[in-house]
Amino acid sequence: MLKIMPIYGTRPEAIKMAPIVKALEASEKFECIVTVTGQHREMLDQVNELFGIIPKHDLNIIKPRQTLNSVLTKTIEGLDALFAKDQPDAVIVQGDTTTVTAGALAAFNRGIPVIHVEAGLRSFNIFSPFPEEANRKITSQVSSLHLAPTSTSRDNLMREAIDPATIVVTGNTVIDALLEVVERKVPFKDETLEYLTEEGKRLVLVTSHRRENQGDAMRGIGRALARLADAEPEVHFILPAHKNPAVREALLPAIQDKSNVAVTEPLAYGEFTRMLAAAEVVLTDSGGVQEEAPGLGKPVLVMRDNTERPEAVDAGTVKLIGTNEDRIFDEVSILLNDRAAYDEMANAVNPYGDGHAAERTVAAIAELLGVGTRMPDFDVEELASNPV
Ligand code: UD1
Ligand code: UDP
Repeated sequence: MLKIMPIYGTRPEAIKMAPIVKALEASEKFECIVTVTGQHREMLDQVNELFGIIPKHDLNIIKPRQTLNSVLTKTIEGLDALFAKDQPDAVIVQGDTTTVTAGALAAFNRGIPVIHVEAGLRSFNIFSPFPEEANRKITSQVSSLHLAPTSTSRDNLMREAIDPATIVVTGNTVIDALLEVVERKVPFKDETLEYLTEEGKRLVLVTSHRRENQGDAMRGIGRALARLADAEPEVHFILPAHKNPAVREALLPAIQDKSNVAVTEPLAYGEFTRMLAAAEVVLTDSGGVQEEAPGLGKPVLVMRDNTERPEAVDAGTVKLIGTNEDRIFDEVSILLNDRAAYDEMANAVNPYGDGHAAERTVAAIAELLGVGTRMPDFDVEELASNPV
């Protein structure tokens, strides 16, 4: 059996890698050596637990307020020792975090083929998102197989002169994970959330964590939420707070005394997808949430000036609104009070996948390693004329 080492470290990587791990484990061609860096801890473990994944290796590198360079160096050093011991035939990295770049460089330097999942996303601004845009570009340079979620991401790679024969369009595995988990309809551990969703209350789901929004911009997001909570007493604002202390310090002071703002710990993925399905509006700076919410027909206001995920913006269900406090207040108010504006955005569209991305991923890996052939590319237009 060929030894494949999926490497991941943060919550979004874990969610998007889980369907691939499951598909590899089901295949007789591969031995799957799940390796986590522990860039995240609680938020990573929540996901592995939900999907029943027990990593073989855990570098456990996390430190409070860790720096990018400490994550990078500890990951490279830790993985290098594992590569020497396990001798994987290929590694898989997913997305754009520091774990991804470190994993890709460490494998490349040992001559191990790198498979990059969610390849080709580009904002075309190297400082935003920071450092993720650079991480994606660096990882593309050292990867042997580029698994692009959409044709837009494939085209970005081709513009950078990546060999087209090494690119496969798979769809995004986040849709595989979402479709499977949202069906489970798991109960909320938090009684308030269970009550609010069961009672059919009007809910706005909010997440924020981007490094470039931390500080002044995030304090402004907090103030905008406080003003919205006062202006819309019938609406409940749900904020599962990221574990990063820098995020909590900026975001929470303005809202902690508001009775219609529920600040919670990070929700386990099953609970989060249920909240997404229950929410009327989603306000976020997350990448993954931008991909999931459109599939559930939820209007998404993205607190960023650009995005590497233009597909749902083009489809009209995602709107980029930046981080200005007044603008956030105005845009959320419009969606809560103007039915026509709401209906215009609330269309279920799924440009990011059809739930079969993991199958395409494993077939492409088999082709790379000479034990199979790839499947036809994910084609969103075909999906539109032939929905799943
Ligand atoms: C990281 C990724 C970002 C991704 C995000 C997903 C980089 C540079 N950033 O950002 O691309 O969007 O994950 O959430 O790779 N912490 C905990 N427990 C946890 C997770 C985090 O305590 O389970 C705290 C720690 O104090 C840690 C801090 O959060 O030092 C920041 O974590 P880090 O992974 O460095 O950055 P994120 O902002 O989470
Ligand atoms: N998510 C979750 N619980 C939460 C908030 C988010 O499970 O409390 C999931 C969400 O559904 C998405 C992923 O985490 O799949 C996004 O992670 P995050 O926003 O941390 O990172 P990004 O996608 O921006 O890199």
